[in-house]
Amino acid sequence: MTPLSPSNEATFEPINAAHPQKVALVTGGVRGIGRAISEELIQAGYTVVATYCSSEKAARDMEETFPGKVRTVRADVSEQEQVDFLFDTIEKEFGRVDILINNAGITQDRSFHKMKNADWHRVLDVNLHGTFYCCNRAINLMRDHNFGRIVNISSIVGQKGNFGQANYAASKAGMLGLTKTLALENAVKGITVNAVCPGFIETDMVEAIPDEVKVKIQNEIPMRRFGQAGEVAKAVRFLVSTDSAYITGQELNINGGLLTH
Ligand SMILES: NC(=O)c1ccc[n+]([C@@H]2O[C@H](COP(=O)([O-])OP(=O)(O)OC[C@H]3O[C@@H](n4cnc5c(N)ncnc54)[C@H](OP(=O)(O)O)[C@@H]3O)[C@@H](O)[C@H]2O)c1
Repeated sequence: MTPLSPSNEATFEPINAAHPQKVALVTGGVRGIGRAISEELIQAGYTVVATYCSSEKAARDMEETFPGKVRTVRADVSEQEQVDFLFDTIEKEFGRVDILINNAGITQDRSFHKMKNADWHRVLDVNLHGTFYCCNRAINLMRDHNFGRIVNISSIVGQKGNFGQANYAASKAGMLGLTKTLALENAVKGITVNAVCPGFIETDMVEAIPDEVKVKIQNEIPMRRFGQAGEVAKAVRFLVSTDSAYITGQELNINGGLLTH
């Protein structure tokens, strides 16, 4: 597939005052949890590059809501050439990526005995290979600056499995292995790499679960409620800050007590 044009061809001036030279890339950053993370990082003073794949309207809305503070770029993270285009654009306009949030993710649920090759590959391609492509480009930029923060949005499902989600669970568990290895390899370069493992967060992804299953899940959560995207975003804000400099290779659970370890 041919790389797609950035949504905004105008030269972008990073003007966010608190961290004028720090650039944060949030994949899938205009909708759901990614949107909440983008907004949290904008409020924290970072210049944010938020990618979108199909949500062009939400991307435009974001640029209008936060003029000069967010740059949206269209990129399907499962396509290496689109990720290359994304990073080429960022390098040209900003010259750096200090923070990478690998948030873009999909589900394509089916019991394993009925799972098709296409279900397996699509979910792995977006969730795991997309994360690899982005880390692979970001890590050298971060190493050049002796600073970096990577947060991979994994899932409770990658930690404990879930009915109908073998592909999703494998992709999210894979992200955890990648997180820990990148943390080891890059600690000496001032780069921290952590994973966030949300439980069930109120977004379109959870909205797609049948109502009767949602009620059952909610009854199993010790806090008896789903989480909010903003609650994930606040944790990410901490993990990218200088306050978390000694935290790397960790899984931070945000699940209302559904899994405790
Ligand atoms: N919601 C939960 O309960 C929950 C729990 C644990 C983990 N997570 C994880 O949190 C992340 C965000 O989930 P969410 O609940 O916010 O889901 P969502 O509302 O369904 O949003 C999915 C996001 O991923 C982007 N995306 C999908 N396919 C893409 C592709 N091929 N290339 C680039 N971007 C793509 C979407 O962008 P477009 O809209 O532009 O296509 C959108 O921003 C995911 O990684 C998910 O696995 C969610």
